[in-house]
Amino acid sequence: MDTIAVLGMGLLGRGFALNLLDKGHPVRVWNRTESRSTPVGEAGATVASTPADAVKGAQRVHLVLTADEAVDAVIAAMTPSLGEGTFIVDHSTNLPAKVAERYARLRDAGLKYLHAPVFMGPQNSREATGLMLLSGPAEEETALRPALETMTGRVLYLGDEPDKAAKIKITGNGMLVMLTAAMGDLFTMGAACGVGHEEILALFEQFAPSPAGMGQRAVGASRRKPPGFTMTMARKDVGLMLETAGDPGTLTLLPAVAAAMDRAIEEGRGEEDFTSLADPTRE
Ligand SMILES: NC(=O)c1ccc[n+]([C@@H]2O[C@H](COP(=O)([O-])OP(=O)(O)OC[C@H]3O[C@@H](n4cnc5c(N)ncnc54)[C@H](OP(=O)(O)O)[C@@H]3O)[C@@H](O)[C@H]2O)c1
Repeated sequence: MDTIAVLGMGLLGRGFALNLLDKGHPVRVWNRTESRSTPVGEAGATVASTPADAVKGAQRVHLVLTADEAVDAVIAAMTPSLGEGTFIVDHSTNLPAKVAERYARLRDAGLKYLHAPVFMGPQNSREATGLMLLSGPAEEETALRPALETMTGRVLYLGDEPDKAAKIKITGNGMLVMLTAAMGDLFTMGAACGVGHEEILALFEQFAPSPAGMGQRAVGASRRKPPGFTMTMARKDVGLMLETAGDPGTLTLLPAVAAAMDRAIEEGRGEEDFTSLADPTRE
């Protein structure tokens, strides 16, 4: 079985290493703060004291680090010991521009670096479930897919543009943080008018607008006639929400949505469907 190095024994990296050990791989690990490697060492991994030591004899190296600065530092430290043709698979959530720069620089140096960020939490990495994105050369995707599929639920290949996975990953995370903020505003408004969070959650069991559904409605909405629900009418409802919530300082998204609608109405867009706020094709 392939020897695999996992560098970064944080919440996610530890789960990957333990799962690979369960599958019978020899696993070599390194972490900047060595004590965090202890549980994985006790489970059977070889704990290395440097990145260079960790990658010795590894057929594949997985990086699970905070972001670009750590990724660059760890790759520089491990490079002298990397075997010929060893894949470096980076699961860290990074800045797309830095992934592109790193990819070009490392490829020029003959290193097989690929970015494979994940929609996986610690339990997913421990249980090999969730979604892993991957971009890079098609033949390398073919070579790596069987191994990556054992580490996650699904691998979504996004083509050969090296930073595409990074771009799609931050898009997905954007949805996670904005949905969380939206739920926070609704919980705040509910608390202000005596509706508990359980009742709000029960509503969304019955009425569940999806991100993709709302996005599809927004495409071309600025030109669609007649509108389904005008911006002016939706702004009236946002006013009702703000008044019900009381102090706007307790809200995250709603005041910004109100301001964006006010600007659109001032521009003469009050009779457009309100989803034209998000129309990517608006001229
Ligand atoms: N947790 C999640 O649910 C989740 C989900 C999807 C994606 N991610 C992404 O996965 C990556 C890891 O996340 P995590 O939750 O596992 O974070 P974490 O527990 O904070 O782990 C971060 C790791 O990076 C290491 N590190 C940070 N700076 C370093 C440096 N300059 N040099 C060397 N090592 C350094 C840390 O080492 P020390 O232990 O020494 O600090 C630690 O091993 C991040 O990019 C995160 O955005 C996380």
